[in-house]
Amino acid sequence: VRTAAPTDELLRAAYADARAMADLPRYRVLYEAVRRAVLSQQLVPGARLPSTRELARDLGLSRNTVLSTFEALLAEGYIVARTGSGTFVAHGAATPKVRGRRPADLARTASATSHGGPGELSRRGLRLARFRGGQRLEIQPMGGTEADFTLFPMKQWQRLQSRQLRHGHLQLLDYATQGGFAPLRRAIADYLRTSRAVRVEVEQVVLTAGTQHSLDLCAQLLADVGDTVWMEDPGYWGAQCIFEACDLKIEPVGVDAEGMNPQLAPRGSRPRLIYLTPSNQYPMGVAMSLARRRSLLQIAARERAWVIEDDYDSELRYSGRPLASLQGLDAHQRVVYVGTFSKVLYPGIKIGYMVVPVALAESFGSALYDLQRPGQLPVQAALADFIERGYFATHIRRLRQAYAERRQRLVGVLNAQLGNTGQISSQAAGLHLVVRLPDGCDDRRVQALAAERGTTARALSQYFIGPVAARGLVVGFGYTPPDQLAHHGRSVGQAVRAALRNQTPQ
Ligand SMILES: Cc1ncc(COP(=O)(O)O)c(C=O)c1O
Repeated sequence: VRTAAPTDELLRAAYADARAMADLPRYRVLYEAVRRAVLSQQLVPGARLPSTRELARDLGLSRNTVLSTFEALLAEGYIVARTGSGTFVAHGAATPKVRGRRPADLARTASATSHGGPGELSRRGLRLARFRGGQRLEIQPMGGTEADFTLFPMKQWQRLQSRQLRHGHLQLLDYATQGGFAPLRRAIADYLRTSRAVRVEVEQVVLTAGTQHSLDLCAQLLADVGDTVWMEDPGYWGAQCIFEACDLKIEPVGVDAEGMNPQLAPRGSRPRLIYLTPSNQYPMGVAMSLARRRSLLQIAARERAWVIEDDYDSELRYSGRPLASLQGLDAHQRVVYVGTFSKVLYPGIKIGYMVVPVALAESFGSALYDLQRPGQLPVQAALADFIERGYFATHIRRLRQAYAERRQRLVGVLNAQLGNTGQISSQAAGLHLVVRLPDGCDDRRVQALAAERGTTARALSQYFIGPVAARGLVVGFGYTPPDQLAHHGRSVGQAVRAALRNQTPQ
């Protein structure tokens, strides 16, 4: 298939255009250039792209930059790779040619073909529809999508829920006002003060429909279109999706053994928001050092930036003492603390919470009502009971014990399987672990080979927002029944060995 202009010439022009349009890192410029050329059909379906080596030379980029851009475009379905013959523009990725329409209009019509619906997506809608983080990146129980909820105390929960409905307090059927059901906000405040060293009064607690909802409110109320948000890189795709949807400028900031390293932020970058997971970095599974915490809080105070601390699974630590929150260290009221019941109860409960600085509390409460008209008071009331009666604390103790055993069992199998080809680099916490693989190892290939054996292990390279800086696997163990762990651990070992055997020398 031929394009109107030779592909390399077209890409050179598109790259120059994208560069002139926005001040973005180079891989993002290239990504935007290719994406736009595909969407506008300047690059037609089936067109062959130059090799990464040629393109790198042509545009004066490093080969790694081009490789990681291609990886992102492959993952999002704009291009396809055919082994041995090259990389091509995907069929169905482009927008249909419609006579007399401008490129922006063309982008809007893509929904009709790529998603089958009659509606027209906005450009933002298109970006979101293609993101598919849930399919690509959600950490799942190793064998398929069935989570193991056998540990959830269903009977207790049923009793508390039906008790609420039996009492028939009519006010529970109304919208939730002022940040949610007051006794639950109080129970959460008490819990966070003692177990997470959060500095909190009940007025600062705002109940939401989970972390995504909390992040959305933070982005909407604390940042304007085009403002900069720092994200850990690799980082949490759920947060990335929200920030993109709010049209923020995402600046990935590298993560090392001490967590997000602000020295790796682009020079001169002035963040409005800083999103991070300091207790258990997602996905790398490292805890942020005290020195880093202090330095980030200083930056936030100096820049008048808001720090969003996503403490999604801090209850689940299997060794050492619990870590205190970042919020508790902050003397300047710049931190919004975000928590969720997704990991410690069940994901579908969709109850999360924020602890917002005193000065923001009223605005968050009223905006939540105006934007959402929240409800679900009977569930909030049952949860308040669940915490107040001590069931929550007992449940967390049981989870910790069960997950610690599962992790230990998996670590044993993986160590035996991988020897020195893979190293477990994450701390003993949370619901997944990270295996680092040698730099040349194609972790996506390992993911595919493990999937053929019925085992889910996500390629670490997919979690990078910027250039891929490490290869490895993200492996969920929490919701995997213990008697299946050895089998899945062996599948991972076989997949790694098979990928390394077939690796072509670079
Ligand atoms: C980093 C991180 N934050 C938060 C959550 C929980 O999100 P939600 O409360 O929206 O279910 C997850 C779930 O996977 C996560 O990985």
